Amino acid sequence: SKRAMILGTGRAIPEKILTNADLEKMVDTTDAWIVERSGIRTRHIVEPGTPLSSLAAEAGRKALEDAGLAAKDVDLIILGTVTGDMKFPATACFVQTLLGAGNAAAFDLSAACSGFVYGLQLAQSLIQSGVHKHILVIGGEVLTSMVNWEDRNTCVLFGDGAGAVVLGPAREQRGILATDIGADGNFSGLLYNPGCGSLNPPTIENVQEKLHTMRMEGREVFRHAVLCMTRTMKKALKRAGLSIEDLDLVISHQANLRIIEALGKRLNLTEAQTYINVDRYGNTSAASIPIALDEARRNGQLKQGDLVGLVTFGAGFTWGSSIIRL
Ligand code: ACO
Repeated sequence: SKRAMILGTGRAIPEKILTNADLEKMVDTTDAWIVERSGIRTRHIVEPGTPLSSLAAEAGRKALEDAGLAAKDVDLIILGTVTGDMKFPATACFVQTLLGAGNAAAFDLSAACSGFVYGLQLAQSLIQSGVHKHILVIGGEVLTSMVNWEDRNTCVLFGDGAGAVVLGPAREQRGILATDIGADGNFSGLLYNPGCGSLNPPTIENVQEKLHTMRMEGREVFRHAVLCMTRTMKKALKRAGLSIEDLDLVISHQANLRIIEALGKRLNLTEAQTYINVDRYGNTSAASIPIALDEARRNGQLKQGDLVGLVTFGAGFTWGSSIIRL
């Protein structure tokens, strides 16, 4: 049995930039507050009505180009998202059509910010077992479609984007060495969007009450994010038989600079081991890690043979980690 390795990466970032100064005109906030509490300076957002599938397909196309593979070579598309084009069908099916990946099965994976890392574990095991050969794992969100633009507690934090990797059978010592994923549904009420499903269907009343937008208890989410990411990273490292010093780079979910810093302290990470782009993109949920991974590879911060640790946390709560030799 062969483990899976990353054959290529890609990302899609909308052109339009929303600055803290723009947000100052929309809600009662300041650039200083946003920077101090979150580290975010800008986020990229789509024009309203732009479907996630267009971003996800662009990221996927670039990852395939990078891997030197044709769309027809892909036999499975897994799209981690909570902001698909429609309730159904799965947005991964739209992506399949946009790419011309006619040989691929396709589905969406709902694990909020952890969607990409969940997808990696699943894809790794499907390749290792020989069930699939080339899997496109995408994390993508149009979070601005579910933001309450009157709620300063949340609207300053999020952005749109997509990132993708193509996985295939590993060569040499490369590949996904270990993974860990977990969940605790007892905390579902701290971060959620109540009003798009069967519990609160989008009736006029529910939409007027903004039930279709996201809710978050920021402080509690912050605390659990640091705890759970520390734990899951250590678990995956142990499974790989490695320690934190072995990692060339740790890409954690880019939700908030202070969470990234607190995690760095707990794990004893050096500055050089810590990837940060939350200042430019804000929190893009399932897209944040594959966007950062693609950036780090293309800007030379990561090269073939490097060891990278991915670690995430999101609504559910869900969390996960992955240790990869590039
Ligand atoms: N501008 C100005 N003031 C604000 C703003 C804003 N945009 N938002 C909140 N405030 C106010 C609050 O109303 C509060 O005022 P009060 O004390 O009078 O009630 C005050 O600022 C402090 O609010 P706190 O919530 O205590 O501020 P905190 O330091 O915790 O920072 C933040 C808030 C940035 C949301 C932080 O808690 C956080 O980042 N939490 C994690 C959020 C997150 O990352 N969620 C997603 C993770 S998982 C995923 O990605 C889905």
